[in-house]
Amino acid sequence: MIYRRLKNSDEKIAAIGLGTWAIGGREGPDTSRDGEYIDTIARAIEMGYHHIDTAEYYAGGHTEELIGEAISLFDRRELFLVSKVWPTHLRERDLHRALDGTLKRLRTDYVDMYLVHWPNPDVPLGETMKAMADEVRAGRTRFIGVSNFDTNLLKKAIAVSTEPIVNNQVLFNIEDRQAMYELLPFCQSEGITLTAYSPLKRNLVSEFTRQALERLAEKYYASPQQIMLAWLLGKEGVIVIPKAEKIDHLRSNIDSKNIVLTPEDMKILDELKGGGLV
Ligand SMILES: NC(=O)c1ccc[n+]([C@@H]2O[C@H](COP(=O)([O-])OP(=O)(O)OC[C@H]3O[C@@H](n4cnc5c(N)ncnc54)[C@H](OP(=O)(O)O)[C@@H]3O)[C@@H](O)[C@H]2O)c1
Repeated sequence: MIYRRLKNSDEKIAAIGLGTWAIGGREGPDTSRDGEYIDTIARAIEMGYHHIDTAEYYAGGHTEELIGEAISLFDRRELFLVSKVWPTHLRERDLHRALDGTLKRLRTDYVDMYLVHWPNPDVPLGETMKAMADEVRAGRTRFIGVSNFDTNLLKKAIAVSTEPIVNNQVLFNIEDRQAMYELLPFCQSEGITLTAYSPLKRNLVSEFTRQALERLAEKYYASPQQIMLAWLLGKEGVIVIPKAEKIDHLRSNIDSKNIVLTPEDMKILDELKGGGLV
């Protein structure tokens, strides 16, 4: 596994985590496949996924419940659990309550990293970051971070936070690469890890991109999806959280750690145009 160091600490996070959006429902719970999902999460952990990304929002909390059930079979200290607080819960009291719910559903007394899922301009950032820092001091989260924050907002969050912000989770894949230009260099200079969400673009890349990926996939005896992940992992401080429920997808994604693109191939993909927001 590839690891990234977390700011101001000797702790590290696995650079390939498991995304869990749509596991156990989307906006609301769907319990019809619970057994299957619990088994999938357990198999992912056995395969080497120790970093699991989730949120109170996912399936109205049911995704966290399924993770809680699956991880009860494993040593909690071996896992790195990330959850996120929804933007309607960013007032101080609401945030503490939201984390109460997350911990209960995950059946644990701490998360490893707690993120502000989306900014909410109606709530003072200072109040939210104070509540987040209080949760670090209370031992209910080991690290804090944000998600969907642009560079300016991240700077503001850093300025008002009494605990280090160690992570920003944003949309970043071969086509949606806005984060690459200003945000990523800023995070790198600050020692903040950047988690790329939807790193596979939910399998919706353009034909042009797909062909470029296939050319490289052939060269590296890999799949196009592995090339997408290897490109992100080739960047300092970047973490990926592909979501997969098919076992062969889970295996293929974790194996992308073994693919190291040459600087020339990184450049080809860095400069790829024709389908994304380049
Ligand atoms: N912070 C935020 O606001 C935010 C927003 C969106 C997502 N996220 C997080 O990021 C995670 C990942 O993003 P995402 O779920 O949007 O999309 P994604 O990871 O880009 O794509 C997931 C899709 O790709 C398929 N897939 C996975 N591995 C594959 C492979 N090796 N070959 C072919 N297809 C493969 C999956 O199929 P199967 O499931 O059928 O295997 C699934 O349909 C989420 O699950 C969530 O944890 C965060």
